[in-house]
Amino acid sequence: MELRKVVVLGSARYVPERIMTNHDFEKFLDTTDEWIVQRTGIRERHFRAEGECASSMAITVGKKLLAQTGVDPKDIGLVILPTVTPDYMYPPTAVIVAAKLGCVNASGWDIEGACAGFIDGLYTAWSALATGDVKYVLLIGSEIMTMTADYTDRATCVLFGDASAGVLLKSVDESEYGVEGIYLGSDGTHWKSLYQPAGGCVKPTSHETIEKGEHFMKMEGQSVFKQAVKTMVTSIERVLEKTDTPIEDIDYFIGHQANARIIESTRRKLKIPEEKMYVNIDRYGNTTSATIPLCIDELREAGKLKPGTQLVLFTFGAGFVWGGAHLVWGS
Ligand code: ACO
Repeated sequence: MELRKVVVLGSARYVPERIMTNHDFEKFLDTTDEWIVQRTGIRERHFRAEGECASSMAITVGKKLLAQTGVDPKDIGLVILPTVTPDYMYPPTAVIVAAKLGCVNASGWDIEGACAGFIDGLYTAWSALATGDVKYVLLIGSEIMTMTADYTDRATCVLFGDASAGVLLKSVDESEYGVEGIYLGSDGTHWKSLYQPAGGCVKPTSHETIEKGEHFMKMEGQSVFKQAVKTMVTSIERVLEKTDTPIEDIDYFIGHQANARIIESTRRKLKIPEEKMYVNIDRYGNTTSATIPLCIDELREAGKLKPGTQLVLFTFGAGFVWGGAHLVWGS
């Protein structure tokens, strides 16, 4: 079968209005703005308003994407929603989003890829679009991360924010633009380094799990940090090997925004010029699967993405999972 090219037609983002600064945390937590900025690069993050959820934010993003690209919702074949904070355990939040957007001919599913969710979703979209079976895919990461944090645990709760962002992808005969290649990896032996103990089938929700705070995230920060740098470097190297592209040819590197120091260490190890590494964690914190499309959309809005601009996306997350994607902007 002749494989088709997969191009990005547009990008969009949504963040809730309410901003929570580091100084706001100082009011109830043993922390300081200085510590958070120095150790993470984060200055503020957005918190959802009451009633906002993964689907409501993704619907806002989906509407923007359809308006920006002029694509008829009836032509969308798939809605893919990376999220670790779905509206419900089931059905998939993606079908709620599809229905509200009028994507009546689309299938929809969620991808629970944690911080790798967006690149996992891109891989899935790429596969479906490359066969030509589907013409358009909406891929939107949508996360209410502020509900996963324990606000007595200073080492985790300051890191996260809520956001939704995504892209609309199209299958085309051929093009000099689009997805060039994707590399994905995992090592599940580290699953306990970052996880939510209860709420799944191993430890169903009970009075006891709630009392013990087992529905909040548990993280071994330093082990996550080390593995993140190592595997992000590998992800960039491996995807560029796959697409046979010299690292110097890449215009922007867009990494999962977990910690500015993780991104900086990755940048230094690969000797990437500072101006090529996009960072916006200072304003959003870690929004899991939404971080990469948030960056893409800011770059697009700033007019930095021209037809032919070469991007490398790279990520790392709970599992551990990691990956990289090489994408040429334009359609
Ligand atoms: N304010 C003040 N002090 C703090 C805070 C805080 N918010 N958080 C931790 N500390 C303290 C610790 O209690 C510890 O104090 P102690 O020495 O008295 O015991 C001290 O700071 C040092 O703690 P470390 O854990 O060694 O601090 P570190 O420099 O490693 O930073 C951090 C912690 C920010 C969590 C870092 O390890 C990290 O970013 N790890 C990566 C994890 C990550 O990015 N997770 C995001 C989710 S995963 C993902 O997106 C893939």
